[in-house]
Amino acid sequence: MQTEVLDAYDPEAIAKAAAILKDGGIVAFPTETVYGLGALATNPDAVKKIFEAKDRPGDNPLIVHVAALDMIPPLVEGTPPLDMNLLADEYWPGPLSMIMPRSRRVPDEVTAGLDTVAIRMPSNIAALSLIKEAGPIAAPSANRSGRPSPTTAKHVLDDMDGRIPLILDGGPCRVGLESTVVDLTSTPARILRPGGVSPEAIMRTIGEAEVDGSVLRPLGEDEVARSPGMKYRHYAPEGQVTIVKGARKRVAARICAMYDEAVKAGLKGAILAASGNRALYGDRTVRLLGNGAAEQSHELFAALREMDDIGAQAIFSEALEAKDIGLAFMNRLGRAASFRTVDANAKEGKA
Ligand code: TXA
Ligand code: MG
Repeated sequence: MQTEVLDAYDPEAIAKAAAILKDGGIVAFPTETVYGLGALATNPDAVKKIFEAKDRPGDNPLIVHVAALDMIPPLVEGTPPLDMNLLADEYWPGPLSMIMPRSRRVPDEVTAGLDTVAIRMPSNIAALSLIKEAGPIAAPSANRSGRPSPTTAKHVLDDMDGRIPLILDGGPCRVGLESTVVDLTSTPARILRPGGVSPEAIMRTIGEAEVDGSVLRPLGEDEVARSPGMKYRHYAPEGQVTIVKGARKRVAARICAMYDEAVKAGLKGAILAASGNRALYGDRTVRLLGNGAAEQSHELFAALREMDDIGAQAIFSEALEAKDIGLAFMNRLGRAASFRTVDANAKEGKA
């Protein structure tokens, strides 16, 4: 199959993508978080094609993307919860997915057989036009399963060339990390995946919410993942990632020491760092992420992909403070590192 790349902001490209979707096909499209790989949410055979193209495990449910609030009642069981209306008022369109009881019209292929469905209204204009023209779209991130989510059309092409007919190129994604996933069927509401909308922001809007324990640590052996996606190794480059936390200069010193040791052992080393810390790493291989949590989040997935491109085997990353978008950054980086963390403030290292 030939994979075509078209300008997402060209109405003819949107019309072509909508026609493919209505015909039971799948297309990749930009959102403000990451690129999605979409099928019509009401077409189970089309949804199956997403799992095939991604090699995605069948027990990991998809998010349904809508372009207007009136697309939601047919997808959910009963009246949508009040909290949904409050959160939608504040954060939609935007990087927030809400889990609600699902109606029978949402096929098992979308929800992986769960009795709930995750729904999100993205803010990217091309995504909204596509959904308006085609209908609600079920879409995971458009990466091959296990790879970092794509934040440019080039990333999608790298993973999906020859596997899907069309990629809508909308340029780099504004946020760069996937949406916050909040489960509104638990009391209090439970944040299963941190993203562009922070736990504090959600609590301000609906009063109470909990952050799921698995956000900043691996799942325990007998623990059931509330969000099936949380149990898979994710975002991981080929090389081993180590996170180093602590005071800025101690972090840099510890990273330099570990990097030099790895290089001496014959490994290709690389460092992920804030741009402002460049001088602390001398002439070592450094991928700068910009400054501040938003910029660094925006660059993280692209940087992790580049680690494979340069064949990095021992990768060391500075930690961020785990609050606001920094919580999402630490969740994704943590999973890329299998939560392997060194505390540079501690004498012996291991956190
Ligand atoms: O920003 C995003 O959310 C992007 C763009 C394309 O919208 N999509 C995305 O989808 O990241 P995906 O499939 O890569 O991640 C969806 C996450 C998975 O961890 C999945 O397990 C969880 O949401 N999820 C989906 N439906 C769920 C449900 N009914 N209950 C619990 N978790 C659910
Ligand atoms: Mg994904």
